[in-house]
Amino acid sequence: MRSRNCGFGTATTSAPSTMNPTASDIKTQASVSRLRCINCGNVADRTDQDFRCPNCGDLFEVVYPGWLTDQGLTVGQPSESLKQLWRDRKTSFDASDTSGVWRFRELLPALKPGYEPITLREGNTPLYHLPRCAQSAGVQLLQAKHQGMNPTASFKDTGMTVAASFARQEGFQWVACASTGNTSASMAAYAARGAMRSLVLIPEGKISWGKLSQSLDYGAVTCQLRADFDGCVRVLNELVRRKPIYLLNSVNPYRIEGQKTAAIELLEQLNWQPPDHIVLPGGNLGNSSALGKALVEMRDLGLIARLSKLSVIQAEGANPFYTSMHEHGGKKLVPTQADTLATAIRIGNPASWKKALRVVQATGGAVEHVSEIEMAMAKAEIGADGVGCEPASAVTLAGLKKLVKQGFVKPNESVVLILTGHVLKDPEFTLKFHRGDLFAGTALETDAGALASQQRAPIVLDATVDAVAKTLEQFENEGRQ
Ligand code: F0G
Repeated sequence: MRSRNCGFGTATTSAPSTMNPTASDIKTQASVSRLRCINCGNVADRTDQDFRCPNCGDLFEVVYPGWLTDQGLTVGQPSESLKQLWRDRKTSFDASDTSGVWRFRELLPALKPGYEPITLREGNTPLYHLPRCAQSAGVQLLQAKHQGMNPTASFKDTGMTVAASFARQEGFQWVACASTGNTSASMAAYAARGAMRSLVLIPEGKISWGKLSQSLDYGAVTCQLRADFDGCVRVLNELVRRKPIYLLNSVNPYRIEGQKTAAIELLEQLNWQPPDHIVLPGGNLGNSSALGKALVEMRDLGLIARLSKLSVIQAEGANPFYTSMHEHGGKKLVPTQADTLATAIRIGNPASWKKALRVVQATGGAVEHVSEIEMAMAKAEIGADGVGCEPASAVTLAGLKKLVKQGFVKPNESVVLILTGHVLKDPEFTLKFHRGDLFAGTALETDAGALASQQRAPIVLDATVDAVAKTLEQFENEGRQ
């Protein structure tokens, strides 16, 4: 059954035209890509199904040899006309143009002629000001790029549209992932849209119901393994070596390419003026790698003049990258047994840590970790700004507060938080928080008293106007917000 070297690889495309491109030019106008091992530099057009380098076992990344020309690094047109082209596509009804990922296809690997992307119109996510959170963190300008506003309510869709499209192009009938819930929800949806079957491996009892229900709804074969996320990854890696299954975890370099577009879209929304800092949560560290890769590529292509500092925040209970940076100088990563209520980032052995390390260092960013209480507080504060997010996303605000206190982020610097998942992904966490049950019976119960100012438990009343009016008055008298 083993299918090796099955050609997840290079697409050939027509040369980009330098004049105003027509719609059909645009369809095929994308970069010729290759795969390169991040460790030994081995360059390949095809990989094994585990996406590991056959020479050294490390990860591949997508590179674009065609970008290097006599005119320097370019995708075939000046950066200003590229920005104009991307802007113009916003008025198009073409499926690729309405996708907030494929709209930037000049910076993505191209599908072969005749293959269309599987798209749910992903990307196109809003950038919000967070005035109250800014005050609480001690910075003047704080915005959030809400990747939870994607079709399946997490950032995973931006990578999935690309990688699932490559899976279909290669003729796979089955795709699979190990997941803490969001990758699986996204994969199941894109597989269904692309008429492929999907297999989900998730840790039993350790993902939110919202995410589990999504993969069931989208028709995935969903296996809850008696293991943590890292255990699910181990099983899947072995399985894809035995069966013709396309792996859709973030070791798949095409996922990273799609996820890059969050940073491109962000810079477009900021009129190509990079914020001083971008802060995002770190789990398996694919997303940090992706956003960092985008920043470096945009700088090299002349789309932006400088790099934002990219900082990664982990939960204290799932902090192998933090430990690697602070205790081992980034030289090695010691896997940990992960535990955090932010189940999305409950990961002890992140696959993409070397890629993330590279971009944190290239951009001059920081790596921090935050406690469960800090994360819960930050989540409530993001909610109170009318935005909301899932617990893992909230480590960004909690981490920012620490980075401001340390002086790494200055009060007058601009900051963008990447919110990775929607508030409705994990309603159980939110309800427990507001009812005051989140840490009940745990060692953190006493410390959790600090959260009271943010708690808004639902109030059960008799169905009378008096009862409701009295409650309102109580709130006003107590000066509660
Ligand atoms: N935020 C959310 C909401 C996530 O679902 C994840 C990862 C992350 C942050 C961390 O991103 O792994 O690229 O560093 N979720 C994966 C999953 C692991 O299976 O859904 P990362």
